[in-house]
Amino acid sequence: MQSKPSILVNATNDEAINNPSDNVPFATVLQRYISRRDVLRGGLGAATACMLGLPLAGYTADGPNGSGVKPDARRARRLGFESIPGSLEDSVKVPDGYRVQVFVPWGTPINGSSPAFDEFNASNTAAEQAQQVGAHHDGIHYFPLPRDSNSSDDGLLVLNYEYIDQQYIHNPPFVFDGSTPRTDVDGVRKEINCHGISVLHIVKNKSGEWTLVGSGFNRRITGATAMLLRGPAAGSDLLKTKYSPDGMFARGTLQDCGMGFTPWGTYLACEENWNDYFVNKDPEQPREHSRYGVADEATRFGWDTVAGSAKEENDEFARFNATSTGADATEDYRNEPNQFGWVVEIDPYDPSAIPVKRTALGRTAHEGVWVSKAEKGKQLAFYMGDDGRFEYIYKFVTRQPYHPRTAGGFLLDDGTLYVARFNDDGTGEWLALEFGKNGLDAAGTEPFTSQADVLVNTRRAADVLGATPMDRPEWGAVHPKTGEVYMCLTNNTQRGDGNAGSTFAEQQAGDIGPDAPNPRAVNAYGHIIRWREAGDDPGATNFTWDIFVFGSRADQSAETNLSGLTEGNQFASPDGLWFDPRGILWIQTDDGSNVREATNNQMLAVIPRALGKDGITADNQRELRRFLVGPLECEVTGVHMTPDNRSMFVNIQHPGENGDPANPTSTFPGGPGTRPRSTTLIITREDGGVIGA
Ligand code: FEO
Ligand code: CA
Ligand code: CA
Ligand code: CA
Repeated sequence: MQSKPSILVNATNDEAINNPSDNVPFATVLQRYISRRDVLRGGLGAATACMLGLPLAGYTADGPNGSGVKPDARRARRLGFESIPGSLEDSVKVPDGYRVQVFVPWGTPINGSSPAFDEFNASNTAAEQAQQVGAHHDGIHYFPLPRDSNSSDDGLLVLNYEYIDQQYIHNPPFVFDGSTPRTDVDGVRKEINCHGISVLHIVKNKSGEWTLVGSGFNRRITGATAMLLRGPAAGSDLLKTKYSPDGMFARGTLQDCGMGFTPWGTYLACEENWNDYFVNKDPEQPREHSRYGVADEATRFGWDTVAGSAKEENDEFARFNATSTGADATEDYRNEPNQFGWVVEIDPYDPSAIPVKRTALGRTAHEGVWVSKAEKGKQLAFYMGDDGRFEYIYKFVTRQPYHPRTAGGFLLDDGTLYVARFNDDGTGEWLALEFGKNGLDAAGTEPFTSQADVLVNTRRAADVLGATPMDRPEWGAVHPKTGEVYMCLTNNTQRGDGNAGSTFAEQQAGDIGPDAPNPRAVNAYGHIIRWREAGDDPGATNFTWDIFVFGSRADQSAETNLSGLTEGNQFASPDGLWFDPRGILWIQTDDGSNVREATNNQMLAVIPRALGKDGITADNQRELRRFLVGPLECEVTGVHMTPDNRSMFVNIQHPGENGDPANPTSTFPGGPGTRPRSTTLIITREDGGVIGA
């Protein structure tokens, strides 16, 4: 891979550099945090002893790897690589003895070599893009072939695409200015086709290289693909549109960020920042728009502005304008934004299966969804983060218990959605979002008329219940043995900044200050929280929690660098997160500033022990090691492995995001003269061994 002189990143990320330690109340908050940990641990001295205690033991082999697969789950006792240095080069860095294969970058034809991608000018058409890998790789999962096998050299790689860097998509380059209506119909279609999901049949050859093969499994799902709506909100008046007058079907999925999988071998795409793809210019927006940030002036990419210029018979683009124009909801697209913000189930093993939006899991800015340990005869919990400042953490619990032979998507249509309240004493509660309970009814101060109403307005219902506003929940991960759930809280520089800010929560509560689960004011670096269900029951309504690690630059004071991070493992803005079946936790970053002055975004690894025993401190931080550093201006997001733990898939998203074709700030992976492209990396060991151990 090419390298380039170091460049200090001038990020445009909305999280600015700042200094949390300047905030006066912080010491108080930290004291409260430490006191609570004392309670959990029986004192810091006892805690230190616990850290030296037994490592993970006795993994079962039915870890959450999807497809009922039995992965190689022999426990990992220690990491088998040394932390690598940070990097500011336009290349990928991994430890000695590992190799990196660039795989299926944006534009790769999904079947054969045609339509070829124009890596120099991106001149491909919308129709070509529909047969090519999308942009902005994010969540990813490997499904073995055949189904229910353990195959680690033949499988389906499923990955989703979050958004686009519009400046790199077109020839000649184009960026929507927010006001001038778009006339490039094919360009808009191309952008829509960059979104969605790919199912890709891949095989490994004897030399350890992976190839994408022509296959009937290969499939693109885009922002225009027909989908079904199912669950309690399907068919409700709030989901009816001119295109879908019965509210039972939808068009497309957008902004698929992290993801999830089910124990029955399906993929869950998660719709995150879809809100400003839609505009509603009515004098007053309904709560199902305003609470989610639907635009009131201009959409992000201007797709709505070509409305009427193409495919008038199905309002291909008019649907992005949610302003009321017809006599009722079946004559316009006022409800089109309500068809987004869901978890979408996709069966990668059935190319003809229609994707299904599962409304029972709620409507938020879904970062992703992570299933509890699948145990026969027990309910399943699906944990979810709503990635917005001061938004909440949720779980959906199936009504029916899990039975491997009969499990299927129907489990996702019937159950209870809960939102989390974290108490300062290290306990927490799951609050049920059930119509008719907890004030979620027609008589409440915030009235609801049905469970469909509750689900379409998940955020408002959670507001009513008094859920705990969090510092931007990103990916979660479930420990394969203990079932403990870890979740990244990536950052929130508006917390306790002395400014009421623009989010609903801040407006309601004024300037929301730190609390125990979000203990740093002006939280620029983020942290990882974790919890354990009462009785290890996924359906429990109580849990205990602590904080696993705090991000920081290594050169910050101990008051800020609470986990004692060093140059070898400093990080900020944890985002992607995954437990492999051996209990190694992989942490990926989406840092827009801060540690980015020292290193591009990265992936680290650590082997955590149980909650309450080993939050990362200055005493034990050496076990957190940097494994991979990405190219310039990328985010590292999405990680999975084959069941033998010998091939790891990692996504690189938006290299060079702050540049443009005339002045690209990265040319990864094609090199000079090419446009930067999001891509998957396949990491293997030169000796063919297992990753990380
Ligand atoms: Fe798409 Fe919250 O990251
Ligand atoms: Ca604030
Ligand atoms: Ca993310
Ligand atoms: Ca992020």
